[in-house]
Amino acid sequence: MTATFENRVALVTGAARGMGLATAKRLLDRGARVAVNDVSRDQIESVAAKLGSNALAVAADITNRAAVDAMVTKITDHFERIDVLINNAGIVAPTAFEDIAEDEWRRVLDVNVNGTFFCSQAVAQTMKANGYGRIVNFSSTAGKNVSTVGGASYTTSKAAVLGLTRASAKELAPHNITVNAVCPGMIDTDMLRVAWSEDRIQGYIPSIPLGRMGKPTEVADLVCFLASEEAAYITGAAVDITGGELMV
Ligand SMILES: NC(=O)c1ccc[n+]([C@@H]2O[C@H](COP(=O)([O-])OP(=O)(O)OC[C@H]3O[C@@H](n4cnc5c(N)ncnc54)[C@H](O)[C@@H]3O)[C@@H](O)[C@H]2O)c1
Repeated sequence: MTATFENRVALVTGAARGMGLATAKRLLDRGARVAVNDVSRDQIESVAAKLGSNALAVAADITNRAAVDAMVTKITDHFERIDVLINNAGIVAPTAFEDIAEDEWRRVLDVNVNGTFFCSQAVAQTMKANGYGRIVNFSSTAGKNVSTVGGASYTTSKAAVLGLTRASAKELAPHNITVNAVCPGMIDTDMLRVAWSEDRIQGYIPSIPLGRMGKPTEVADLVCFLASEEAAYITGAAVDITGGELMV
């Protein structure tokens, strides 16, 4: 059965490309109205225009709390509710532990952890008022193990996302709001291809039991399930989508 999102409103952060864009498309295909967020106004407005009239562009840097609050107000003014939040936006930095500069460390934690927190807190009120909510956070295999692509800042941030997922899941459960995390392995997006050369990617692939990278659409399908009504009894979970990487 394919989940339907008729009458549901979703916010997807970092939706200009990669897994965020793939998730926004899936949600729209299944009947949702979707607010698509990213940092660059021009970029997200052009993405939203291609996605059609059920997509609303909401540019904001998710590390800016006031901008996040204004974004949520814009969405509730336009769509009157928010049922689903996909905390997808994230950044990676590969710097070795001893060389990480303070501003890089703070920026990675700011986007991946604080941004996820600000967006979740900002939508909680409207979800509580409606007695319904689905929040899906993007962690990573890095959150459970050690990142192959990112440095210590990334691994630390994605582990923190798992803690935030559990804590917010427990507190929001009485309001029928579920909070779960996805933990993708190597997914074929710009983030990965900017960080790693084609040779390095090809050299790594044999260590993945399923023998390939994941596709953004495959992650989008998992995210859509966790964001659906059908996933009503799943909360505080961290679901792997890795081609089998964490079992080896
Ligand atoms: N690609 C992978 O292999 C992989 C694996 C595990 C987890 N992840 C996680 O999945 C998520 C999506 O990754 P992707 O590979 O699609 O990345 P991507 O770099 O292709 O896309 C991320 C998007 O987030 C946006 N963004 C960054 N900072 C932002 C901010 N402050 N405010 C709003 N938007 C911001 C970017 O502009 C970009 O459009 C990230 O959280 C990433 O850490 C990726």
